[in-house]
Amino acid sequence: MNKDVIIACDFSGKTQVTDFLDLFKESRKPFVKIGMELFYSEGPEIVREIKRRGHRIFLDLKLHDIPNTVRKAMAVLSGLDVDMVNVHASGTIAMMEAAREGLTRPDGSRPLLIAVTQLTSTSEERMQSELLIGATMEDTIACYALNARKAGLDGVVCSPREAGLVKEMCGGDFLTVTPGIRFEGATADDQVRITTPARARELGSDYIVVGRPVTAAPDPVAAYKRCLNEFCQ
Ligand code: C5P
Repeated sequence: MNKDVIIACDFSGKTQVTDFLDLFKESRKPFVKIGMELFYSEGPEIVREIKRRGHRIFLDLKLHDIPNTVRKAMAVLSGLDVDMVNVHASGTIAMMEAAREGLTRPDGSRPLLIAVTQLTSTSEERMQSELLIGATMEDTIACYALNARKAGLDGVVCSPREAGLVKEMCGGDFLTVTPGIRFEGATADDQVRITTPARARELGSDYIVVGRPVTAAPDPVAAYKRCLNEFCQ
């Protein structure tokens, strides 16, 4: 499994994202993440445009609905030729299976499909008091990751600090896609549990998702290369 860096393109419009991607002139086009903000403002055409530019795309829409709806929505996303998509594991194994079926093309190929376990913005206390989940955060993440594995998904989004636990529960080939990345000594912004690219590699992440440390850097290309050097060595 080759490790890679995914740049979170958290821009609100086409011009901002294409201006940003124009900075990357070399043949290696970064793997990029398109989230709800950009997708909802620009629609599927932004996916086609970025694909035409030669980037691999993680379409981060975190689907969560009844299995039939998710199956049909995933069939549409699969037709956009994205490389990675995701769902909420809390939608149940049946929903995740439906997502996988919907994504699978007639030739058997499909984008990577990963699950969000518990959002990192959800504290253990709120999970227990508001969602009435009595288990610990760690046990919940382990259980949801195992459910994703049972449904035939390829991995989960998690903190690098949970990557080891997920690998232990689900096997070394089960992917861990990890945000919350900051360079040594940098500001955390609104992220709480941060990890450097080098530490994420040591902890077993397969993909790091990096937003502001690259997009807001004075030299985004240099910051991206620094991530590659630290993480993919
Ligand atoms: O700018 P920053 O590096 O914090 O961006 C991280 C990206 O990863 C954002 O797009 C954020 O929405 C996403 N993400 C996250 N934590 C999660 C899931 C996704 O930070 N648990």
